[in-house]
Amino acid sequence: MTDIETLHTVAELRARVRAWRAAGERVALVPTMGALHAGHVALMDAAHRHADRIIVSIFVNPTQFAPTEDLARYPRTLDADRQKASAAGVDVAFVPDVAEMYPDGFATTISLAGPALGLETDFRPTHFAGVATVVAKLFTQTAPDVALFGEKDYQQLAVVTRMARDLDLPVEVVGVPTMREPDGLALSSRNVYLSAEERRTAPLLHKALTDAAHAIRSGAAVAEAVQAARRTVGDAGFAVDYLEARHAVTLAPVAALGAGPIRLLVAARLGATRLIDNIPVPD
Ligand code: PAF
Repeated sequence: MTDIETLHTVAELRARVRAWRAAGERVALVPTMGALHAGHVALMDAAHRHADRIIVSIFVNPTQFAPTEDLARYPRTLDADRQKASAAGVDVAFVPDVAEMYPDGFATTISLAGPALGLETDFRPTHFAGVATVVAKLFTQTAPDVALFGEKDYQQLAVVTRMARDLDLPVEVVGVPTMREPDGLALSSRNVYLSAEERRTAPLLHKALTDAAHAIRSGAAVAEAVQAARRTVGDAGFAVDYLEARHAVTLAPVAALGAGPIRLLVAARLGATRLIDNIPVPD
């Protein structure tokens, strides 16, 4: 049995946060859609370094799913999630239902540009509007000092960071490095869908990015290094949605070293499984 406090309404959540603040405590938020794995636990562990109290939100947000994406099939594992959050020292699980988050007549959506342009948006055009809207709501509901997001979803991290700044939301957005298997594959709840053979191929995604990053660092033209990585990944049997070099903060396309930090980002399908990953080009 787990003893983590679980709150379902914004009113209860605000009352709890008010009491913590009255005691002078700092509050961290880890937003999730549940199905928690080691990558989420790393966010909770990092939260301890920033705050006295930790809230994990668990909400499968319908507005970030396209009609073609199967919202109903998204894994829901609340009991196991509560146990993992409790073991990670989280104080409160905030688990609102859809009516609490999107009351009747809900009519407001955040409109995005900048880091939301291209990459995932070319394949999931409405995704980040749904993410930004729900994250803005979670920020105003929770009023955290700090909120932690995985670098694995790097474009999401960039979009949320920009949004918090643009809307003057008084929260520090912190990115937490991607957790990896020993062979380099980024941890993801989707990895379980890989067949044994696909699982052997999957780490090549990270290796191709690493090779491209080293090539750029050693003087290769960005376009050529990226093209070589796309070829390697494609030859290994992936269908590449994108593999690009972007400015690490603005996510604007970059053509050469010297115009700021570079991030390499990839999304590719291996059989029926879509994997994403990203790494920095070392300074
Ligand atoms: O990364 C996720 O799990 C979701 O996009 C988030 C940030 C919890 C918003 O629903």
